[in-house]
Amino acid sequence: MARNLIDIVDFTTEEIEQLIAVAEDIIENPVKYQDACAHKQLATLFFEPSTRTRLSFESAMLSLGGSVLGFSSASSSSTSKGETVGDTIHTVSCYADIIAMRHPKEGAPYAAAQHCDIPIINAGDGGHCHPTQTLTDLLTIHREKGCLSGFTIGFCGDLKFGRTVHSLVNALSRYENINFVFISPEELKLPRYVKEEALKKKGIPYTQTTSLEEALPQLDILYMTRVQKERFFNEEDYIRLKDSYILTPEKLVHAKADLSILHPLPRVNEISVAVDQDPRATYWKQVKNGKFIRMALILKLLGIEV
Ligand code: CP
Repeated sequence: MARNLIDIVDFTTEEIEQLIAVAEDIIENPVKYQDACAHKQLATLFFEPSTRTRLSFESAMLSLGGSVLGFSSASSSSTSKGETVGDTIHTVSCYADIIAMRHPKEGAPYAAAQHCDIPIINAGDGGHCHPTQTLTDLLTIHREKGCLSGFTIGFCGDLKFGRTVHSLVNALSRYENINFVFISPEELKLPRYVKEEALKKKGIPYTQTTSLEEALPQLDILYMTRVQKERFFNEEDYIRLKDSYILTPEKLVHAKADLSILHPLPRVNEISVAVDQDPRATYWKQVKNGKFIRMALILKLLGIEV
């Protein structure tokens, strides 16, 4: 039976830390890994749009000496003719060694994994979770702060539909002394099931607020998110909520000097481009880290040791 990554809970804390260690070794010694996946093929099956996740997976496999195939929209695959996800996955598993898939329906990668015997990686399923973004975020936090414990992290924006938030809260809830601050409009609060599973069951305290300005001075990490237009049922609500939070240099005057500002991207309007010049802006480093952690993940799921 192949090992998959459908949800971040599929990996133990030790496995996550091993991946971070391998990713950091790849960053230091890229040549060592350049032929590690020679003659292996990665299929990227994206039924929903992506820039970073798909291209970082493809760049990761190419940098490991492997090759890539796949599609970037459902409309260019036989899904548009009515083929089921199960049949698509069964087909692709005849051509590739490992699959990364994104799908608008929650649970689709789990269902896909029942139809093949090669590793499946969830590259984002609807508003549910995004475990490879979480690995990217953990690597970034580890590189910026030197550890994964003992800090205050604020999650700001669309915490209801933001799948990257759900997965990261889950992962960080394993570590000691983390203060969680959730900053969102009332309508976009973190779902109850995430709070129950990741925080309440473990007795982890958290605070919820609607004010970014009030929360900002206490934060070591600020995780900004986009309001997820594609998950809204009506445009009126999206337009009303989309600019709830806009991070500007003026707002950062009251933030800590060693704050790290993360964002899974894409950004729409929630971080002013002027913030990019601030040394606390960490989101472009986060984009780079996404490739290295995905290289480590591909190696792990293919059972390749370097
Ligand atoms: N962070 C992220 O998932 O970005 P893409 O949608 O561009 O893949």
